[in-house]
Amino acid sequence: MPTRPRVWVSRPTFDDVIARLEPHFEVTAEPKETKFGPTELAAKLADCDAAIVGLKERVGTAELAGAKRLRIVANLGVGYDNLDLAALGAAGIAASNTADVLNESVADYAWALLLGASRRMGAAERWLRAGEWRATEFKGWLGTDVRGRTLGILGMGRIGQAIARRAQGFGMPVLYHNRSRLPEAVERDCRARLVDKGTLLRESDCLMLVLPLTPATRHAIGAAELAHMKPTAVLVNVARGGIVDDAALAAALREGRLAAAGLDVFEGEPRVHPDLLALDNVLLSPHIASATTDTRRAMTAVAVDNVLACFGHGPHAGPPPNLLNPEALAAAGVIFPIHPKLT
Ligand code: GLV
Repeated sequence: MPTRPRVWVSRPTFDDVIARLEPHFEVTAEPKETKFGPTELAAKLADCDAAIVGLKERVGTAELAGAKRLRIVANLGVGYDNLDLAALGAAGIAASNTADVLNESVADYAWALLLGASRRMGAAERWLRAGEWRATEFKGWLGTDVRGRTLGILGMGRIGQAIARRAQGFGMPVLYHNRSRLPEAVERDCRARLVDKGTLLRESDCLMLVLPLTPATRHAIGAAELAHMKPTAVLVNVARGGIVDDAALAAALREGRLAAAGLDVFEGEPRVHPDLLALDNVLLSPHIASATTDTRRAMTAVAVDNVLACFGHGPHAGPPPNLLNPEALAAAGVIFPIHPKLT
């Protein structure tokens, strides 16, 4: 009979960080990256008290059907469109994310994509590796400067703000559009001005997307929005696939209605729309904006802290610090810390 609650970790992370769970839990960490189908995932969730999952684990009503002992799903990511919060809340299961610890790494990466796409780095590297570099042409590989151009940010949360702060170094005025206006002190610090979405699309030379994927933001950038953008503009998406209509984007890039794009996320990833793969004016990467050793370790630590807290351990014992569904849990009568029933 187990004497400690069980934690399941769906993907390989950092063993020394996960080891912080071991004094309190029986830990099972998957030794290799695995794509779990809904039935396999349901079986894993049915057999644990806490789950640390990645963005590829989609947790909804069906996956939770047998999860009678599960008390928390700790997401290894800031975005949580893979979690059905309503289903988790109705089942009295906490959900948490890894907000904040990845802001600076993702902001750096968004700039890397903007600069790389503006200066054609992907295509130039492919050309060099293909052995095409036989002579240096003065007018070869001309790109676009970002300095002094207008940066637009759609979705001005913490990552958007970190991106905006970096714009000062490039002498770029910043416009943003967000569900709500930022406090004046934050606007001043970011030197950013709120505009409506139409103005953002029309006036941005560089447009960064940093908003969560929800039913309301699906295809927030589609054919109609792309038609409002400058043909010289560069688009960067470090948020989620599905926010951009990838087919419409590929058409705009192919037809010269948009200069370039830098994309870290895709609709239906790891599949990438074949029309994007065929283009040279788009810089593509495999959803790695937060992928630095320090940041991925910090994300793992946050997930571990949330699980520990939920069961009354660690410095945050009580409601998990990154709890995403407090109202639903209160309505379900959940009180932290949880005392698991061991069977
Ligand atoms: C990555 O995409 C995340 O949401 O952390």
